[in-house]
Amino acid sequence: MKDYLKEKTRFVMKTETLMGDGIAKELPDVLAAWEWSRVGLVVDGGLYRHNDYARQVAETLRQRLEHVTMLIADMPEPTYDYLDQTRGVFADLDLDCFVGIGGGSTLDIAKGLATLMTNEGAAVSYRGFGKVKNTPLPVVALPSTAGTGSEVTPYAVFIDTQQQWKFGINSEHNYPKLALYDPRLLDSCPDRIYASAGMDAMTHTLESFVARNATVVSRMFSKQAFKLLFPNLKRAAGGERSTAVKLNLLLGAGCAGVALMNSGAGPAGALSYPLGVYYDVPHGLAGSVFLPAVIRYNVENGYTDYAELYDLVCDEACATAAEKSSRFAEAIEQLSDELGIPTELGGFGVKTDEDSRRIIDHSMQLKAAFEQNPITFGQSEVERIVYALS
Ligand SMILES: [Fe+2]
Repeated sequence: MKDYLKEKTRFVMKTETLMGDGIAKELPDVLAAWEWSRVGLVVDGGLYRHNDYARQVAETLRQRLEHVTMLIADMPEPTYDYLDQTRGVFADLDLDCFVGIGGGSTLDIAKGLATLMTNEGAAVSYRGFGKVKNTPLPVVALPSTAGTGSEVTPYAVFIDTQQQWKFGINSEHNYPKLALYDPRLLDSCPDRIYASAGMDAMTHTLESFVARNATVVSRMFSKQAFKLLFPNLKRAAGGERSTAVKLNLLLGAGCAGVALMNSGAGPAGALSYPLGVYYDVPHGLAGSVFLPAVIRYNVENGYTDYAELYDLVCDEACATAAEKSSRFAEAIEQLSDELGIPTELGGFGVKTDEDSRRIIDHSMQLKAAFEQNPITFGQSEVERIVYALS
């Protein structure tokens, strides 16, 4: 963790948040107060078809505002090509803002399209850090899964089909203006998405907490995220879908996103990318397969800061930070198991040695994330973890 008494540290949070049961119904009034009446609306297809409340929110917006153009997005892992194909739907409409209602992918699409309204050229030309020149249209984000934290971060991740790589448009201009956390938007969320999105948020929480670039402030968010996510994911794994569980998971995922963007991702997050690109594994699920192994590796090599997190959710007395960290690793393995997260890669199609090599070689392109791990994590550690799960 960075020591602010000895080195420069930075903390950013630029998104206003509103949360509460039924808060999404206030969306037309919020936009009207900002004098935004011409809206590009991106709604997740599954959500629009299966969640009556979400459909009502979208339809009310269309009735109340002057001009709302809606795109129903059925694109679980969005590509740069998809952005180029759909930008024409909104071009020349002189929009005031974009609204995204859906999971992380849908929110990313809204952010990507908001960028393309003010920046010419192919979407993929903005892939990377700091490529966006002109300020995008503002984005209002309503998450329908508790996972990516996209509603508060400046990242929008897309697959580059030409290069076979998954990498975002990452720009300081891309923070959503407003995030609305409404538990009713989770009403149609399938169990498997509760699990994979929840463990994505847990991955953000834990990897941001241990990251070398973590700061005292980012750790406040990591800890709060963990405190919200751990017990409520257990409740969700047991089938509880109360308003409190949904709101706590949404808020936990948001705090995890804030922590992540202020510290940096780690090995599990990086290892998830080749699984997504080559085997179509949803991002959250892909990262969570690796998370317990990374924690176990850190603990076995003497990392003990997990004890701080263990103390937040467990009052069981045990003597040393090393013991608490070891129990913490077990607790995450158990949670992962309760949520039905796979413990091996074969089910995703990673079957041959060539498959494993492809994941290893591609992961190594994300060395910056490995360097964030508090214990040295290089190619041999990547190989050990990938082969252990194969
Ligand atoms: Fe993630």
